[in-house]
Amino acid sequence: MDANKLLSPWTRGPFQFKNRVFMAPMTRSRAPEHIPTELMATYYSQRASAGLIFTEGSQVSDQGVGYVFTPGIHNEKQIAGWRRVTDSVHAHGGLIFCQLWHVGRVSHPDFHAGQTPVAPSAIGFKGQAFTLQGLKDTVTPRAMTLAEIQSTVNDFKLAAEAAKKAGFDGVEIHGANGYLPAQFLEDGSNQRQDQYGGSLPNRARFLLEITDAAISVWGPERVSVRLSPRNPFGGMSDSHPKETYLYVVEQLSARKLGILHLMESAQLPAGVEPLLPYVRALFSGLLLVNAGYNKGSAEAVLNAGQADAVSFATHFIGNPDLPERFAKNAPLTEPDRSTYYGGEAKGYSDYPALSNAVKSSPKGYWLVQATISDPVKFAKYTGVAGPIIASYGGRVLARGDVAEVVEGSVPRRPYFVEFPSYDVARSCFRSAGYQEAIGLRAGAATFDIVIVEGM
Ligand SMILES: Cc1cc2nc3c(=O)[nH]c(=O)nc-3n(C[C@H](O)[C@H](O)[C@H](O)COP(=O)(O)O)c2cc1C
Repeated sequence: MDANKLLSPWTRGPFQFKNRVFMAPMTRSRAPEHIPTELMATYYSQRASAGLIFTEGSQVSDQGVGYVFTPGIHNEKQIAGWRRVTDSVHAHGGLIFCQLWHVGRVSHPDFHAGQTPVAPSAIGFKGQAFTLQGLKDTVTPRAMTLAEIQSTVNDFKLAAEAAKKAGFDGVEIHGANGYLPAQFLEDGSNQRQDQYGGSLPNRARFLLEITDAAISVWGPERVSVRLSPRNPFGGMSDSHPKETYLYVVEQLSARKLGILHLMESAQLPAGVEPLLPYVRALFSGLLLVNAGYNKGSAEAVLNAGQADAVSFATHFIGNPDLPERFAKNAPLTEPDRSTYYGGEAKGYSDYPALSNAVKSSPKGYWLVQATISDPVKFAKYTGVAGPIIASYGGRVLARGDVAEVVEGSVPRRPYFVEFPSYDVARSCFRSAGYQEAIGLRAGAATFDIVIVEGM
């Protein structure tokens, strides 16, 4: 038994992971124009202590959208928006993959100027779509033509390229939860008669083609595929799920895929045979498991050699510093479900970290979070306008280094502060009455800020 496996750094392929606590993809619907925002950069960088972050599903095309305010990864504005996110996560020492998404039939004509959503076959399901006008019943989709399938495969390739331009560390194909790739794979939603339907290899073809498209851009090690066998979400069903999914796992392993992200509940109902041991035996890459894990069950699955890492979704909503909380056996904050989707910072980027004092940075400096209680006065003393300035760490004070602002208890995204030198900045802060300290917050009455030498 290795009690520290969950939280110890480790290396796999091109990646040096800080731990095995990965952040699972979560749609949070905070991209009003389908373009990633600054708020998203704040949210993701707050969670940069995860071993690896998977973004929320990001549609590969306008046709792939099925929910309000979800980000895309197929045009220049979206690439620029995601670039801010990846820069910020990297500045905080994190790694981040973009999840590539096409919802297929889990959409609504409202998203497509009245046109019918597409799917492998014209088979609908009883469900509802989140539209701008609220929940609406889903409709029977239209079966894709062969040409449309080919162009959708190409959309995944273009999105993989866009993710590279946006500075991601890799991509994940969203093959789970009843969206388009799963609709092709499972026979309950695919009754095609051509090379994309019928036999198991035919039904798996679309998923494998989009995986190959991503691999052609990134190489196999930087591609993840997410699968959710036996998940009825979105009206899904398959007559032989074990055979279906193990065939796919075998095919992915043959491609030397980097990460297989398997959703299988940590607490399967009695009588349901776990597929994890079969998947483990077949897959040679990094096996990541998800759904319903806590610290104890994550340690158990790792120590049993059944998985290489565990991803957490809901725990990361209320606990941006989840690995630290696990390390300290600290209590976990319950997330507020009413703010899962849509809205602004509330219930998104305002969950505080356990400690907002001193953290050790991956660069080897002490990082100190600073609170500005009077931005106007601060601007007057420092000559830097606006409520956007603060710093942590002596290095912050050099041009281009990262600073983080906390106004009240609301952290904002890091800003870049330009001072000509550390000395200039220090004298600036001193004249404003700041104390200098290592590892302590200065108790200045008006400003609560600390400047610390790099160590
Ligand atoms: C708010 C919310 C949004 C989610 N969005 C996605 C998504 O975009 N892509 C995806 O693959 N899974 C999504 N999921 C599923 C989670 O990644 C995860 O599989 C699920 O929550 C179970 O993990 P947990 O028990 O650690 O929360 C979402 C879950 C939640 C709660």
